[in-house]
Amino acid sequence: MLNLMNPFSLEGKRALVTGASKGLGYATAQQLKALGAEVIVSARGQADLEIAALELGAKAVAADVSTLEGVQKLKNVVGAVDILVINAGGPKAGGALSVTESDWDAGYQLTFLSAVRLVEAFLPAMREQSWGRIIAITSMTVTRPNPNLVVSNALRAAVTNYLRTLALEVAQENITVNTVAPGFFATERLNSLYNDSQMEAVKNSVPMNRIGDPLEFGAAVAFLASRGASYITGQSLEVNGGFGIR
Ligand SMILES: NC(=O)c1ccc[n+]([C@@H]2O[C@H](COP(=O)([O-])OP(=O)(O)OC[C@H]3O[C@@H](n4cnc5c(N)ncnc54)[C@H](OP(=O)(O)O)[C@@H]3O)[C@@H](O)[C@H]2O)c1
Repeated sequence: MLNLMNPFSLEGKRALVTGASKGLGYATAQQLKALGAEVIVSARGQADLEIAALELGAKAVAADVSTLEGVQKLKNVVGAVDILVINAGGPKAGGALSVTESDWDAGYQLTFLSAVRLVEAFLPAMREQSWGRIIAITSMTVTRPNPNLVVSNALRAAVTNYLRTLALEVAQENITVNTVAPGFFATERLNSLYNDSQMEAVKNSVPMNRIGDPLEFGAAVAFLASRGASYITGQSLEVNGGFGIR
């Protein structure tokens, strides 16, 4: 039953955020925590992850979600969660004629199979309790292909449609499945893709004329994780300052 007094409270909910030692995953963990959830954060690098967990007041479990072993470790150590936020670093940059077969292979493990494996690991407990939220962080490339990010363009679209299919299958079990597609946010990933003058051009391409604050992204994910978002499923929410509407 939806609590009309505070439909966005996450008190009593347990959330796992992967790719959460920095950037959008970290900001998402901050917002889930602010709404009252118990948060578990994961990433590969133990040192950064432990610092992040300490700052957040979260539990840390180091794992590489691009491998089956990494996801199995998460399942074994973390156990059941109510909220699963699927995230990792972006796949290798490159155009359609420049990326290699091994770039595709690595991107498939990192961006696509990680989502499938995380769902297979954490969905059964959600089904048992008849409640769950699955949210994947994708990219603006789902709808607006970036010429230098072909692996992301193709595989984010695949993740989106995989999760839309899953949303249909669990729609009657109080489990919602959505994706959130970031525009441009001030994170290490963005800094690695653009130099200063390119960053100025990026900013000017956004109707709000600014790069997003990761916390503005995390707030959108936290909303979808809440009880208040109980009738939203199978959607791709673009959080991008209006990028692409003009
Ligand atoms: N920032 C943007 O404006 C933007 C725009 C569009 C799309 N995106 C996408 O959104 C996602 C998050 O972006 P971001 O900017 O927050 O990236 P980021 O600053 O590079 O942070 C990535 C996080 O994921 C972790 N990670 C990377 N590979 C992992 C793996 N195999 N297993 C587990 N954790 C892993 C990293 O820690 P470790 O390296 O220690 O594992 C780190 O905590 C990326 O997929 C990115 O492509 C971002």
